[in-house]
Amino acid sequence: MSKILITGGAGYIGSHTIVELIKKGFDVVSVDNYFNSIPLTYERIEALTGVEIPNYEIDLRNLADLRKIFTDHTDIKGVIHFGALKSVPDSVAHPDFCFDNNNNATNNIGKLCLEFGVKNIIFSSSCSVYGNVEPEDLPVTEATPLKRAESPYAYSKQNGEVMYRFMTDVYDLNVICLRYFNPVGAHPSGELGELPSKRVNNLVPVITQAAAGVRPHFTVFGSDWNTRDGSCIRDYIHVVDIAHAHIKGIELQLEGKTEGKFDIINLGNGDGVSVFEAINAFEKSSGVKAPYEVGPRRAGDVESIYSKPEKAKNVLGWEPQYSIDDMMSSAWKWQLKLEELGLNKTEL
Ligand code: NAD
Ligand code: WQD
Repeated sequence: MSKILITGGAGYIGSHTIVELIKKGFDVVSVDNYFNSIPLTYERIEALTGVEIPNYEIDLRNLADLRKIFTDHTDIKGVIHFGALKSVPDSVAHPDFCFDNNNNATNNIGKLCLEFGVKNIIFSSSCSVYGNVEPEDLPVTEATPLKRAESPYAYSKQNGEVMYRFMTDVYDLNVICLRYFNPVGAHPSGELGELPSKRVNNLVPVITQAAAGVRPHFTVFGSDWNTRDGSCIRDYIHVVDIAHAHIKGIELQLEGKTEGKFDIINLGNGDGVSVFEAINAFEKSSGVKAPYEVGPRRAGDVESIYSKPEKAKNVLGWEPQYSIDDMMSSAWKWQLKLEELGLNKTEL
């Protein structure tokens, strides 16, 4: 079966994608320097799949070191490039570091794919590339014009997409950019979930941490938005659904069935869910209260953003399988597993 290189394989989405790739019979090699992950993730993958994943602890910015992976594995058929720093507030605080990391990693993967004749790349992009969308832009489709990037992080994703588009114009290279909306949840078994090395700020882990008593409460960022219940609306999508879309994408590329050499596809459910609705879904599916207080709006938040997932359905033959209740119940299972593993800290 084809060998796929996963960058950022110890990370949240990378690890769930590795599990699904293994299930489909792919060989996987991973590279991750644990900027935002820990080696234990590979043990969790092995516990679920029985497969030990070879990881190269290499910084994606280091072209010479990275080349070693390609010389060791001349049979790599595609790269799924997750490796990036994803924290929006960190990118605002340290734009230079974000650009240095994300842009160099993306450039290096492109360069080495050319050098070693690897023709297929799936690039992790993000709904943040759309910028501050207006209500009349909703739901967001791939044709929705990109606005000014609101953060260095968002700009690094716009940049990656543009660079790969220009590369596919002139080289024998196929790239699919998948723009994820809000990936949440964990493997339904409860054996794998997000294991970051840095503190998390995203809504769902913050809810589960508050429910588990790891943090006393969390803050709902604003209840005065112009939405049905005053809280912000997002398009939450189960991480395993995201993983499945990557398999569909890489299969399409390997079978030579992509329509062109470059494509962009949104990955969302298409449903807008408010913060209060997400909290209710969590409490209903877990039977546990998540203590919160309502606070002021968070700088940089947009009021509402959700996708129209038609293109993913038509091009990838992909449709999300998991509901918001599944997302919340799997996230809760994982929070309980973290406790069992002695890893239930706010840093995680
Ligand atoms: P993550 O932080 O859990 O995983 C990213 C992994 O990349 C980490 O394990 C990190 O250690 C590794 N990494 C970062 N820089 C590296 C470097 N220079 N060298 C080697 N390894 C490096 O993040 P995630 O949630 O799994 O996100 C995966 C991808 O999807 C990222 O590109 C992210 O920007 C993108 N994305 C994520 C979300 C989300 O909400 N999780 C949404 C849209 C897009
Ligand atoms: C979701 C909603 C908050 C925490 C980010 C990136 C985006 C993409 C996905 C990478 C918002 C509210 C949150 C809390 C809250 N990532 N919230 N209290 O900001 O939609 O998107 O992750 O590409 O680019 O910007 O995700 O999970 O932080 O927030 O009320 O403690 O929950 O205001 O409405 P966000 P999030």
